[in-house]
Amino acid sequence: MVNKIAVIGSGLMGAGIAYVSAWNGFTVTMVDIKQEFIDKGMERLRTDVMTGIDKGKITMTEAEGLMSRLSATVDLEDAVKDADLVIEAIFENMDVKKEVFAKVDDAAPAHAILATNTSSLSIDELATATKRPDKFIGMHYFSPVPAMKLLELVIGEKTSEETIAAAESVGTTQGKKTVIAKNSPGFIVNRLLMPVMRESILMLERGEATKEEIDNAMLQVGKAPAGPFTLGDFVGLDIAYNAMSTLYREIGDCFKPPDTLKNLVESGDIGMKSKKGFYSYGPDVVEPEAPKGADPNWIVQRLNIPGVREAMILVDQDIANKEDIDMAMKLGASWPKGPFEMANEFGLDMIREFLTKLEAEAGSCYSLPKYLG
Ligand SMILES: NC(=O)c1ccc[n+]([C@@H]2O[C@H](COP(=O)([O-])OP(=O)(O)OC[C@H]3O[C@@H](n4cnc5c(N)ncnc54)[C@H](O)[C@@H]3O)[C@@H](O)[C@H]2O)c1
Repeated sequence: MVNKIAVIGSGLMGAGIAYVSAWNGFTVTMVDIKQEFIDKGMERLRTDVMTGIDKGKITMTEAEGLMSRLSATVDLEDAVKDADLVIEAIFENMDVKKEVFAKVDDAAPAHAILATNTSSLSIDELATATKRPDKFIGMHYFSPVPAMKLLELVIGEKTSEETIAAAESVGTTQGKKTVIAKNSPGFIVNRLLMPVMRESILMLERGEATKEEIDNAMLQVGKAPAGPFTLGDFVGLDIAYNAMSTLYREIGDCFKPPDTLKNLVESGDIGMKSKKGFYSYGPDVVEPEAPKGADPNWIVQRLNIPGVREAMILVDQDIANKEDIDMAMKLGASWPKGPFEMANEFGLDMIREFLTKLEAEAGSCYSLPKYLG
């Protein structure tokens, strides 16, 4: 039974995880390396509390209760010594994370579960820093943590059933919907987002459609909340590029970042935060390219079917089940429908035919997954 949670790292994710934990009744200690980082994290957390109060989600009394369950320290050993669950949310660096987990493993009680919020590192490798790989798990929250409903639980080779059940229960208490993915590059959401983003950029590079046509088609016909170029600019092209590069390194050429993306990142045009990415957000008005006249229905099929194919590969590889994949994409990536719901709409015969034709034209990145028989 988890009562006390230690959150390591008081940055964007750590402060959010501490907030949803204390808000939902857990006793929480947040740790960082310097008092100034803790102060920043506490400030972020207080802003979340104030937003909750402003929106009428939290009463003043509840906010006081939340804050009374929360403490913060720079002393890692002290923070984890009586924790039932430790959630790590520090920099995305394998060596630094392993060093921290070795210390946590020594200082935490034997029963404590150790979790990482890594977006891209191997759970199995991180677990080797500890003597309790059965009690090691990925708890991958999405940003902003208070608002995003999804929690991907990432299961290592040695993660026990008890550990999974305990993490599931904590996630549910925190108000999250949990899905399960076996340890694999990109888990569910990042793995499926990347083919769609990549195909959009390749379509642009081939001159088949303009970015405005692609974004409008995905918005109006695909019913996505934002087109891929607007979304990329919003999330940050550096983040998209890093996520795609990790998959390229670990899975292979079908995830190779297109040159257009690489060049934008290398020139510092990383989206809204730098005022320029695929689109310009500065004062200078950039005239859109003349439309190519591409059929919006074709655009949506051509971009979504590679995402659906990747979802089928996850099932083929026994990484996740269809229901969890559909839920993960709807809650974690705001897809209007899950990939298997899309597949039902397109029809499996249509997808088979579409991919067979694409494979003949463009190669094995479009081969039929086993799922399609
Ligand atoms: N930002 C996102 O959208 C997002 C989403 C999902 C997962 N993640 C993952 O969450 C983790 C944290 O990301 P973030 O965006 O919150 O980063 P961040 O830079 O906002 O915060 C990281 C915090 O960790 C602290 N830290 C570093 N080393 C430490 C140590 N040894 N002990 C204690 N604290 C330490 C830093 O001082 C900093 O305050 C990363 O693994 C990232 O991949 C991020």
